[in-house]
Amino acid sequence: MKRYNIGLIGFGCVGQGFYEVLKANPSIPAQITKIVVKDASKERAVDRNLLSFNIDELINDPAIDMVVELIDDVDVAYDILKKSLSLHKPVVTANKKMVAENLSELISLQTLYKTPILYEGAVCGSIPIIQTIDRYYQSENITSISGIFNGSTNYILTKILEQNLTYDEALQEAQENGFAESDPILDVGGFDPKFKLSILVRHAFGHWVHPDQILHWGINKLQNQDFDFAKANGLKIKLVAKADYKNGSLSLTVAPHFVNAQDPLFYIDNENNVVIIDGEFVGRQTLAGKGAGSHPTGLAVLSDVKAIIYGTAYHYKIPLEFIIPDSVIDVYVRYDATTDFVVELFESISEKYVGKQSSYVLGSIKLNQLKSILNIDNVNAIVMTQEKKELQTTKLTYSYAS
Ligand code: HSE
Repeated sequence: MKRYNIGLIGFGCVGQGFYEVLKANPSIPAQITKIVVKDASKERAVDRNLLSFNIDELINDPAIDMVVELIDDVDVAYDILKKSLSLHKPVVTANKKMVAENLSELISLQTLYKTPILYEGAVCGSIPIIQTIDRYYQSENITSISGIFNGSTNYILTKILEQNLTYDEALQEAQENGFAESDPILDVGGFDPKFKLSILVRHAFGHWVHPDQILHWGINKLQNQDFDFAKANGLKIKLVAKADYKNGSLSLTVAPHFVNAQDPLFYIDNENNVVIIDGEFVGRQTLAGKGAGSHPTGLAVLSDVKAIIYGTAYHYKIPLEFIIPDSVIDVYVRYDATTDFVVELFESISEKYVGKQSSYVLGSIKLNQLKSILNIDNVNAIVMTQEKKELQTTKLTYSYAS
C-alpha cells in the first residue's frame, strides 16, 4: 500500500497531539515529512530537520501527498486549503471558523478539484460527530441537534459551580490545559460553538447557515447572582448549542441554559462535550466525550487522515431551503434599575423579582427582542428549560415584587 507523506502546518496543542497519536500508530501508512511552524527559536520535542517556515514551499513540494492544517489564522488557513486542493492534495483541518464561514465554497472546491477536505477535529474534539451524521444519518430525517459544543466554557462553568473558582481562575486553567482558543473570547463569547453548530447544520439538514445568522451569546456576562439562582434551584448553567427543525423552519441558538438533574446535559462536566441527535426513525442518540485537548483532538485529526487514505470524502446532503424563524424563547433575564425597560419586551411573564442591586424576570420573549438587549451592560439572559413549578424559588433569600 502507498505510504502517504503528510505536510503538517501548525504545531500547537492539536498539532502536537496529532504528531504523538500518529507516532503511536505505526501501522497507519503515513508519516509527517515536514512541519511548518511560525517561531524558529522555540524548542520543540521534534526532529529539527522536519521543521520548515514556508507554507507555500510545503504545499508545492511534490513529495507531499496530503496537507494537515492546524493553525488559528482563518485567512491563511483558507488560502492553504485552496492552494492544496488546486494541486489535488487532500486537506485535513480543525479550523472551525474557516470551515463554518466558507462551507458552501469548500463544497464547490472539492467538487471542482475532485479532492476531499475532512474536518472531524473541528467539531467537539474527540466525538466522531461529523462522520456519524454524514454516514449513519444520511437516510434519517433529523429533527434536532443540540448539546454542549465547547470544552473551555463547560470547564469554566464546572469549576465555578463545583469548586468555587473565580471566572478568571477557571479561564486561566482552561488556557493552561490547552482547551481555550488563542483568543478566549471565541470560547466565552459563544462564537466557537456557533461555528460548530453551523458545520453540523450543513451536514444534518443540508442547509448552510453562515455563523453570522445564528443568534448567540456566551458566558462572559454571568455574575454571582446568576450562579446563586442556579444553586438555589438545584440547576447548573451550560452553554448549549441548538438546531431545531419543524415544518420548514430551522431555529438556531447558542446560549447559556439552566439545566436540571433530569436533563442529560446536567451530567456533562469539565471539558466534556455532548451531542444529542433526534431523528424520526431512530429517536434520540447521544454522543459524549472530551471536546477539547491535545490528544483527543489529535485523534480526530488522525481519523480524517486515515479516512483519506481509504478514499473517504463527505457526502453532503442536497441543499434545502429553510426559514430561520423569530421564535419565542423562555428565559431568565437579569437587569438593574437603569435597564428595567427590558421587562416591557416580554410576551408573557411568569415571575419577577426586583432587588436593590439586581433584578430578574422569568418569561417568554421573541428572539429578535432578546437580541436587542443582549449587548447592554448589566443585562444578561439564561435560557430556561424547566417549568416554573419546578423552580424552588422559596429557597432563595430574595423577596418578590410581583
Ligand atoms: N476551544 C475549543 C473548546 C477547542 O474549548 O471547545 C476545541 O474545539
